[in-house]
Amino acid sequence: MDSLEQDIYYIDTVLKGFSSVGKPLQNLKTFIHNVLGHIPCEVAIISPHFELLMVNKELGRITGLKENMVLGKLCYDVFGSGKPCPNCPVKAALTTKTVQMNTKKQHGAKRKVVYVEQMAIPVMNEKSGVDYVIEISRDITHEVVLEHQNKRLFMQTVTSLAQLINSRDHSTGEHSARMRDIAVQIGKEMGLPHEVIEEIAIAGILHDIGKIGIPEKILKKPSKLEQHEYQLIQKHPEIGYQALVNISELNRIAEYILYHHEAYDGQGYPAKKRGNEIPLVSRILCVADVYEAITADRIYRKAMNSEQAIELMCKERGNKFDPAVLDAFFKVLKRGTLPPKRCYFGRGKVSGRPCWRIPTTSQTR
Ligand SMILES: [Fe+2]
Repeated sequence: MDSLEQDIYYIDTVLKGFSSVGKPLQNLKTFIHNVLGHIPCEVAIISPHFELLMVNKELGRITGLKENMVLGKLCYDVFGSGKPCPNCPVKAALTTKTVQMNTKKQHGAKRKVVYVEQMAIPVMNEKSGVDYVIEISRDITHEVVLEHQNKRLFMQTVTSLAQLINSRDHSTGEHSARMRDIAVQIGKEMGLPHEVIEEIAIAGILHDIGKIGIPEKILKKPSKLEQHEYQLIQKHPEIGYQALVNISELNRIAEYILYHHEAYDGQGYPAKKRGNEIPLVSRILCVADVYEAITADRIYRKAMNSEQAIELMCKERGNKFDPAVLDAFFKVLKRGTLPPKRCYFGRGKVSGRPCWRIPTTSQTR
């Protein structure tokens, strides 16, 4: 059944329903009156020139305005700032002649901020023009507030996990925070969407959380690691993955963490994935991780300077590193927009210019 047939079937069913209880026209009026009077949505009829031709009672609850105060006025004068709202669904419905949806924040009764979900339905005439638009707006403030609370709780959980890393091994905590900043800059340089940048930030701060499962004497060993110790430390991506994968909001982050030591040429660990088999976020984490690690002092070696680090990383272009990610990182470095080295976890900022020193050995853990 196509959409026109569905509409005809629907109208037939409605009329049949009204006919079966007699006085179909009277019943239709009562029906419309009841629906518009009690539906928990604001319903408005808007002309092609944005004039408000009809509004129902719910308008008063959401906006605090009475019907006689708004009829005949322009909708953006009443609900907006005096000019057509950005992403206006009515305008889009008039232009595209299709149903349009939008979510927006506006001032409601007593200047309280409300969030509304809007649907604009164009009503067509026989000349394929739009006679008017029916706009249905639902107050979703409660849902948005709950969503914000969930997000805040989620971010507090991530921060607590990050602090857990820092309390176990301070240099890993500092490294993770710094590496997150670099990875975020790379993501922005690559033009990735906001949601992905947020994932990069979370994955960055948590990427080494699996080191919680590695003995402290190995993490803090001042000399080079033995083979078996290095094998043990290589377990940290999988330990981190297992720790996070069952938290539904973090299961994608867990995957990024699992692959942050994979190499573009397939010589990394733990799965020896190569190229695009490795998630893009993991490829970004890899570049940021190595640069941060080799340009910072470790208990087992001194930091490289920036030139040495760049030279070393160039040699790994297409080997360890995704060339596109590495190029984006070099652009970030060239622009000089990396934030200065900081002390994290509430110990204040370190003043002065960024310190991009370079190491004497390339062993990174
Ligand atoms: Fe790592």
